[in-house]
Amino acid sequence: MNGWAHKIRDLGGLTFVDLRDRSGIVQMVIDPAKLDPKEIRSECCLAVRGKVALRSEETRNAKMSTGDIEIVVDAFDILGPAKPLPFPVSDEDQMRSVNEELRVKYRYLDLRRPSMHRKLALRSAAVTKMRRYLDERGFYEIETPIFTKSTPEGARDYLVPYRLEPGKFYALPQSPQQYKQILMVAGMERYYQIARCFRDEAQRADRQPEFTQLDMEMSFVTQEDVLQLIEGLGVTVTNELIAEFGMDLEPIEPFFRLTYDESMARYGCDKPDLRFGLEIFEITDHVRESGFGVFKNAVEAGSRIRGLRYPGGSILSRKDVSGLEDFCKEYGAKGMASFYVAKSADDGEGVISLPNGMFVRGGCSKFLSESELLSILSEAKSEPGDLLCFIADEYAAGNNVLYRLRNEIGSRCGLRDPRKLKFGFVLDFPLVEWNPEGGRWDSVHHPFTAPKAEDLQYLETDPGKVRADCYDVVCNGAEWASGSIRINRPDVQARIFHLLGIDEATQQARFGHILEAFQYGAPPHGGIAPGIDRYIMFLLGEDNIREVMAFPKVGSGYDPFMDAPSPIDPMQWAELGLRLS
Ligand code: AMO
Ligand code: AMP
Repeated sequence: MNGWAHKIRDLGGLTFVDLRDRSGIVQMVIDPAKLDPKEIRSECCLAVRGKVALRSEETRNAKMSTGDIEIVVDAFDILGPAKPLPFPVSDEDQMRSVNEELRVKYRYLDLRRPSMHRKLALRSAAVTKMRRYLDERGFYEIETPIFTKSTPEGARDYLVPYRLEPGKFYALPQSPQQYKQILMVAGMERYYQIARCFRDEAQRADRQPEFTQLDMEMSFVTQEDVLQLIEGLGVTVTNELIAEFGMDLEPIEPFFRLTYDESMARYGCDKPDLRFGLEIFEITDHVRESGFGVFKNAVEAGSRIRGLRYPGGSILSRKDVSGLEDFCKEYGAKGMASFYVAKSADDGEGVISLPNGMFVRGGCSKFLSESELLSILSEAKSEPGDLLCFIADEYAAGNNVLYRLRNEIGSRCGLRDPRKLKFGFVLDFPLVEWNPEGGRWDSVHHPFTAPKAEDLQYLETDPGKVRADCYDVVCNGAEWASGSIRINRPDVQARIFHLLGIDEATQQARFGHILEAFQYGAPPHGGIAPGIDRYIMFLLGEDNIREVMAFPKVGSGYDPFMDAPSPIDPMQWAELGLRLS
């Protein structure tokens, strides 16, 4: 057997070495009277010869798949000796407190851990299954260039200087968006690629500067065709992986569907976690004339009053509630009003009994009239024991708070079940959004996204009203995929560029190639691109994208193993015609 010395135990008379390879761990027994085991150090690479023996009844280990046997060693070779390790690879508990940068610097050791190994094995299986699903449906896998020109997806580009003409640069693709559309003009009809994308943007727990998409594009399709394809792929691949890897996850159900407007109104965001209900309710109309000044004044100032129920929240102390209010303020709330829904007339102080047989107390309840309280309880579909929370703000700002508060309440109430993956579509995104800082309209998705035919009439008069044939797939409160039907008519594309304030010269400089291509019989087409890293995060319930990548960047884009980025030598500066200003 070949492998690595996982754990070594010297029990005086005998030495036990757990030998580990890709497939698992098996116990070796060495008799020091016959062989000297001292050279075997933790994580050295070993070849071992010996006999498989049944362990005695009392030494069998039911927790190990190889726990009934051991290998009595006749001879071993150290194939690769090992220095003392920077961290204890074989101890999962201790590994939890090891600094992450150190783990990434020594990724070759970190990845030896069976838990890390399993993540990469899962990722490999996922990609294999995605490929098979698409191959069976007639897709071509086609590679597109990495040295290319800017493809805008909303981030900064990574640039590569061109040595032969100083001052010129390639851009690394933020996605293969333009190439895949051109492949449709080229008549490929169905394309996919396991595509590396590069985006210089602020890092977050679910973002890396380079990451991988399953990028797809199809010709002669409607939005519905794309949705069915990605849903089929998502359900099939996920359910197969759950079964093969024995994952503790419920089988995937058909994807839910929400429009963007519904999603914002009911969940406050375009990536709702639908493992639980707790929808946002609105009470604006009930408190216009309220004796509670906070509500009345906010409504007068044009705000809306919306809220959430916190099931079981009536046990929260005032201090807990003010902690929740601070949470809301972190996301820009001006405050969070609330009251308790009591269980009985003597459930706490100052209980107000209502004619519908319910009881409220505390917070702003004493400022609200009986009829206001009754309307609120009914809008909130409230139950005894709830805490009702209210945010008064403009729609978008309120949503930004309410969606985070909803997820927080969901987490605290144990409603975000780690054994569930709730995939769904968010549809009919707006085409553009107003950028107040830039004083212009920006694409919500990208400039090639098709407006809905019936909304095209508002493109010049009321751009904010135009919806797009644009869709996201979300899972458990995060975005998995984005896609759209594309514009294939040059006249519509020109109107969009005009709306986005991209003038003729800029259009030609940046997109001339694609605009020209569309003049040679461009088919109607559309596509989508799910993130593969994100997918593995969902499957593993992992919050940190770095955990599902073999070689992630840490901090703001640093590779501690390679020590990249790194300075280049003066010769290279000169060759590239560059200098630091
Ligand atoms: P979009 O920009 O929405 O769409 O990206 C699609 C999916 O890619 C993943 N993703 C990321 N994953 C890790 N780190 C990042 N920095 C990162 N950025 C994006 C997400 C996201 O949902 N060309 C279009 C797709 C299309 O229209 O067909 C595009 O790239 O899972
Ligand atoms: P104040 O009158 O500012 O002392 O606030 C009285 C209560 O109303 C406090 O519980 C505040 O948190 C709450 N409150 C203030 N502003 C808002 C708001 N915009 N939305 C919801 N609650 C608010």
